[in-house]
Amino acid sequence: MLIRASSHSIFVTNGRPVRVRRACWEDVGKVRDFVAGMSMRSQVMRFFTALPNPSERTVRAMVTVDERRDALVALHGREVVGHAMSFYGPSGDVELAVAVTDAWQGLGLGTHLVRCLVRKAAARGATTVVMDAHGENRQVIAMIRKLWPEARMRVDSGSLVITAQVRDCRFPGDEEAEVAGS
Ligand SMILES: CC(C)(COP(=O)(O)OP(=O)(O)OC[C@H]1O[C@@H](n2cnc3c(N)ncnc32)[C@H](O)[C@@H]1OP(=O)(O)O)[C@@H](O)C(=O)NCCC(=O)NCCS
Repeated sequence: MLIRASSHSIFVTNGRPVRVRRACWEDVGKVRDFVAGMSMRSQVMRFFTALPNPSERTVRAMVTVDERRDALVALHGREVVGHAMSFYGPSGDVELAVAVTDAWQGLGLGTHLVRCLVRKAAARGATTVVMDAHGENRQVIAMIRKLWPEARMRVDSGSLVITAQVRDCRFPGDEEAEVAGS
């Protein structure tokens, strides 16, 4: 499995460049603007509530990287257009959360950010990925079905709990590898 450097650039499917790197404290203002700039629907899908004025606590949690948390920002120029974070549990589980600003959705960025965190989780020995999603979140369900066709989804207190194995995550080239090997 390829482990990408923590900072790298990609082109999303409309050809625009995005730089992906680990979040840091200096990103607090940019991440606040990113959250506040999301549509109310996207905020609710990500945070289960509207967040027109994200609190200092919420934003700081999104840029905190320590032994239990990882966080990535995707930047177009100086603007944060995507964010993903992971939280490592005690028994090989890692919880992921991801968001892409509305104008950049559907361009492959969310999938890329999740794959980056899954690579890091694999390198750290995590085995199980968990995501809590809003029950009406069609985008995230579609994204998960492509990344993990075998993912388990169950409804718990109105939200959708997605569970998948780190090792089963689909990466570009997996299909070709399967065909070549068959
Ligand atoms: C869910 C989310 C992170 C996905 O990121 P994204 O960059 O938009 O998704 P991608 O472009 O990587 O698309 C992955 C798949 O999702 C599906 N998808 C993406 N946008 C979609 C849309 N507007 N409607 C329906 N399906 C969509 C497609 O199946 C897509 O595969 P395709 O590229 O082959 O068509 C993003 O839509 C988002 O931030 N939504 C609001 C916050 C949120 O829901 N976060 C998840 C919390 S768990």
